[in-house]
Amino acid sequence: MIQKHQFIVVGGGIAGLGAAIEAKEAGMDVLVVSLTHPVRSHSTCAQGGINAPLGNHPEGHDDTWEKHAYDTVKGSDFLADQDAVELMCQEAAPRIYELEHWGVPFSRFDDGRIAQRPFGGAAFPRTCYAADKTGHLIMHALYQRAVKLGVPIIYDRLVFKLARNDERVTGIVALNLITGDLEAYEADAVMIATGGYGRVYANTTNSINNTGLGMAMVYKAGVPLQDMEFVQFHPTTLVGTNVLMTEGARGEGGYLRNKLGERFMKKYAPEKMELAPRDIVARAIWTEIMEGRGFEGQYVHLDLTHLGKDHIMERLPQIRELAINFLGIDMIHDPIPIQPGQHYSMGGIAANKHTETPLKGLFTAGECSCVSVHGANRLGGNSLLETAVFGKVGGKKVVEFLQSTSPHNDTASVEKALEEAKSQVDHLLTKDGDEDVFELTKELREIMKAKTFVFRNEKDLQEVMDKIHELKQRYKNIRVKTKDKHYNLELERAISLEGMLLIAETIAAGALYRKESRGAHFRTDYPERDDEKFLHHSLFYYKSWDEPPEIKQKEVVITRWQPVERKY
Ligand code: FUM
Repeated sequence: MIQKHQFIVVGGGIAGLGAAIEAKEAGMDVLVVSLTHPVRSHSTCAQGGINAPLGNHPEGHDDTWEKHAYDTVKGSDFLADQDAVELMCQEAAPRIYELEHWGVPFSRFDDGRIAQRPFGGAAFPRTCYAADKTGHLIMHALYQRAVKLGVPIIYDRLVFKLARNDERVTGIVALNLITGDLEAYEADAVMIATGGYGRVYANTTNSINNTGLGMAMVYKAGVPLQDMEFVQFHPTTLVGTNVLMTEGARGEGGYLRNKLGERFMKKYAPEKMELAPRDIVARAIWTEIMEGRGFEGQYVHLDLTHLGKDHIMERLPQIRELAINFLGIDMIHDPIPIQPGQHYSMGGIAANKHTETPLKGLFTAGECSCVSVHGANRLGGNSLLETAVFGKVGGKKVVEFLQSTSPHNDTASVEKALEEAKSQVDHLLTKDGDEDVFELTKELREIMKAKTFVFRNEKDLQEVMDKIHELKQRYKNIRVKTKDKHYNLELERAISLEGMLLIAETIAAGALYRKESRGAHFRTDYPERDDEKFLHHSLFYYKSWDEPPEIKQKEVVITRWQPVERKY
């Protein structure tokens, strides 16, 4: 039986719940379909904060949305769409106050106002925070709001097939992980808010579920992805596990030191030092390691020992606990070993500032989307903001859409998608191949880590493309050995791997195509930014399983800031 709703939100993180709350408040029939329970979504892993020009910090009292917008555009290496950045920064303060009213326990200054800390690439301390658990606490407040409003949420659903006709989106198909059954949902509007793809890399801060399947699903259904070559590598992840050590640690005054004890950032960003944007700090750390000034050829130190116990316990309690649990190191007394790791996707499903994709009725918000507020490099603290702002903006837009557009009544297209999904799953479960899902996944993740990382070049990227082609051929021959219906995680991983291969291919193809260095995309063979040839977005179109994507260009929206050289 196919369930029908006006609006289906795929993903129960901050962007998804934000959209669902907005639509529910407007009286729409909405359903959230999520892989995990909302309070276990990856949004809860965001630590250091959310940007808004509140002007509460003594050094930032004359902050404005325009200054925030300029920092964001400069941070993006001038690839962000400036109309979308303006909207995000105008909406930042109202969203923070709304979240506060919904119960987010922001940290406070002594006078009671919301506290703000410095973050990379920002002219003023404008990152609002709740200790170092900001995402976790925002997520809980949103979940409570959703429960209060009676937003229906179902989880343990792997959504992997989009239903559409020639004109518009018509629904989705999900694998119910609890029962092993396929479920189809018809809808007049669908929002994809499924987060990032970090698990395509072996060294990532992302949760195990961040495979990029939502992005891959719509890409395969004919909707373009945008700017996929721009991958953010967070400078400070715990050596070995790549667990996030928040930028807030440097915001609170932490130092980066190499094995000679030097605060090496003075060579790379003499003014901003440890608080330069992430792309610059990640490259600096990797350069120190590659040139032999790292420890054991693998890491440098994040040193917080001078901050003192009280400061660390008040502002950074979670990362202290994480470093103790994972490495047995207490940052009150000892520096912690860190290295850059994949953290975030600047690219995603192509969308405008209203979260509309090129497919009628299909919307997208949060990390899986590219409304393009981050361009080639995102500033820390702008991702929670993006989810909070564009979840709501998208929810409002969906309401307008539903109020002005007739229902599609095309159940046949949803039935067709369900049939196709069934044969995909049957094929995976019954075929007698000799390739192993986990082995293929490992090989993919390792080559992405080795050759599509902080520094890139033509030869490595071509090797990655060849390897992905090989893995795609081998994928045709994988065998899902586990036949259980209930929580068949091998099946889940096999479906997800198809998406991971497609996503990885767009990243490598984009990195090969973009013969310049901009933001987080650094080509050692083309070390300069080239505005003449590459001041444009890249759009990726799916062609077939055996072919790489088609890449087209899309103009960058410039409203008021012409590109200049970035200096920090
Ligand atoms: O370092 C951090 O706390 C991460 C923040 C972000 O990605 O915005």
